Amino acid sequence: TPTRRPHIGGNWKMNLTLDAARSLAAALRDGVAGATQDRVDVTVFPAMPHLAAVADTLKGSPIAVGAQNAYFQPDGAFTGETSLSMLSDLGVASVLVGHSERRHVLGESDALVNEKVLAALEAGLDVTLAIGEKLEQRENGRTDAVNAGQLALGLAGVPAERLARVTVAYEPVWAIGTGRTASPEDAQAAHAAIRRALVSLYGADAAAGVRIQYGGSMKPGNAGDLLAGADVDGGLIGGAALQSTDFLAIVSAAA
Ligand code: G3P
Repeated sequence: TPTRRPHIGGNWKMNLTLDAARSLAAALRDGVAGATQDRVDVTVFPAMPHLAAVADTLKGSPIAVGAQNAYFQPDGAFTGETSLSMLSDLGVASVLVGHSERRHVLGESDALVNEKVLAALEAGLDVTLAIGEKLEQRENGRTDAVNAGQLALGLAGVPAERLARVTVAYEPVWAIGTGRTASPEDAQAAHAAIRRALVSLYGADAAAGVRIQYGGSMKPGNAGDLLAGADVDGGLIGGAALQSTDFLAIVSAAA
């Protein structure tokens, strides 16, 4: 079995003041232990107005900075949007695409998600592609089909040689911010199905290299059990990423 280096993401969502974002970044920079940083990839996704300051604070540290969103077009007349080149210019290394809040609150389609994935990879950024089923879809037994569909549409046109720069984040919508977590068994089952979908799209070798994160009320108390799943290669953390001690405890659990 391949060894996938765990990847832990902290999605700060639309939270924090500039000062608080800077302090959180500094606490992570100072607190990430040498032993863990060699064994885990860590990316934080601050809100757009805090990106420059956080990137500055984390410069030279092993913690990468990602953006929660980006537009797929080059600089131009797109009021309110942020381009990939603006992000690269700040030292931002990756972009989160397809988060359920963007899909279901802001109405982003699979086609738009796909444009963003393609453009980000083309621009040299890494991508965290978030997918996941809603409660009703789970109850109707459609979890694996929904995930496979979002995956295939999100990755359409992505060549195998760029797949290694994609981390998939499986976030069951009903588990996000609710305190309700998928059981380790349910999480592993969904991850294994996502891996099978990747195998059918890209073949076994490429699929084996892709990190699949679990997201949805992951906390220090449940991270170890969730991360024990053979196909659970990290986590994408919301609420618990806003506290440096909680987030660092999850990073340690992944190491
Ligand atoms: O992207 C992370 C996420 O949606 C999970 O949020 O607050 O349930 O950890 P939370």
